Amino acid sequence: MNFYVMTLFPEMIEQGSRSSILGRAAKNGILSLKAVNIRDYTEDKHGKVDDYPYGGGAGMLMQAQPVYDCFLAVRDKIELDRGKDAGSKTKVIYLTPQGKTFHQEMAQEFAKEEDIIFLCGHYEGVDERVLEEIVTDYVSIGDYVLTGGELGALVMIDAIARLVPGVLNNEVSADIETFHNDLLEYPQYSRPERWHGKEVPPVLLSGAHKKIEKWRLEQSEIRTEKMRPDLYEKYRRRKNMAEKLVRENKALYADMSESLYRGRGILVYDGEDGAIILDKEAEVYMLAAFCEDAAEKIVGLIPEKSDVSQFILHQEVFLPPMERRYRLKEKMECRRAVYNQDVPAPMSKRTDVVLLDISYLEEIAAHYHLGSREYIKERLLQGCIFGAFIEGRLAGFSGEHIEGSLGMLEVFPEYRRQGVAQDLEAFMINFHLSKGYLPYGDIIVGNEASLGLQRKLGLKISKETFYWANIEK
Ligand code: ADE
Repeated sequence: MNFYVMTLFPEMIEQGSRSSILGRAAKNGILSLKAVNIRDYTEDKHGKVDDYPYGGGAGMLMQAQPVYDCFLAVRDKIELDRGKDAGSKTKVIYLTPQGKTFHQEMAQEFAKEEDIIFLCGHYEGVDERVLEEIVTDYVSIGDYVLTGGELGALVMIDAIARLVPGVLNNEVSADIETFHNDLLEYPQYSRPERWHGKEVPPVLLSGAHKKIEKWRLEQSEIRTEKMRPDLYEKYRRRKNMAEKLVRENKALYADMSESLYRGRGILVYDGEDGAIILDKEAEVYMLAAFCEDAAEKIVGLIPEKSDVSQFILHQEVFLPPMERRYRLKEKMECRRAVYNQDVPAPMSKRTDVVLLDISYLEEIAAHYHLGSREYIKERLLQGCIFGAFIEGRLAGFSGEHIEGSLGMLEVFPEYRRQGVAQDLEAFMINFHLSKGYLPYGDIIVGNEASLGLQRKLGLKISKETFYWANIEK
């Protein structure tokens, strides 16, 4: 990911970017951070970049020309590095107290970008005309006024960078920390066991991982309810809905409950009669109707302004209202398989299953036909595809789909009927169990071979079917 900061004070950015984590990520080529001096682009002989505001008023204003030319130079560099399309799509964030207040979900959205340009204002602001031409997002870091945007840009860069895969490396992964799942972090303790007469809570010394996890969750809940009742209310609603989905039909709604439990689902609607969850990572709406006549109303509750084109419809009764509201391009009927046990699935000793890196893109694309090359590339880069090796040769692969289900299972013809599929699937199940997930997969109706494999591994298959649907946008 590349950050470009357009500023009159590049040294502020350079100073602030040398922290150990950002510095290491930059060294490893995961990130780059470049401060670009707006003054270098002024056409004024004396290097002037500001002037008085028309109509009078206090202070000076940054002029349009240097800011615009600086922006063109940055955009040209992005286009040179990544192609024309990239330059025109790049987010340009103007730091201003008038913008939307920055928060964790915004950081997660920005972390998906390849390039971000920040514009830092100074003096009394920037000529409105250049803002209109180049800015895509107006962001504030809080309800107070700073002397310029640089500290705001650094705050945003820090929060965004730590979410970029590979940046945190061996440190605790970002997805179990504060604000994911709407909970604040639990209290932590280090040596010594007794300090100022205070003991470390005994459960943390017990070595019982399940108990420790439970205690930590309870502490997070207590802390959040006390310190941030607003966040706690959000958390409580998500948790209640996740529990309701499990009670209603654990297998059928595994995608929805897991999307909430894994901290990636936004509750768009949570009623007695049904639910709408937007899975942020996969950009898919998941719809459930707990009574038949709720379907029409629930479809009507999908936000008008939405770029999302994929849906998981958990009841057939959704199809008519969906067809009335949208043009359905394709739909696929599936059953859901869930692994309801907490003991690991058994694996043979014949195969070695290991994470595949991007160098396997061509080999996988040649064998997997239910997703585009772009999709496979994204899954590989996210560390979601694993390969089974027999005597050092790749025999097949399996992975985690973008919405969190297990799938993408392929065994190369010469290795079939040797238990490779079973090993791959068992490995993926155990991988998800180790993360505290409920392992599940979607099986296209009619795929008897896959159903057979799921049953053999002890997965429960939903009686009900549901639909993956794509709408025309
Ligand atoms: N520039 C000045 N104040 C700011 C704030 N609160 N957030 C972002 N940029 C700013």
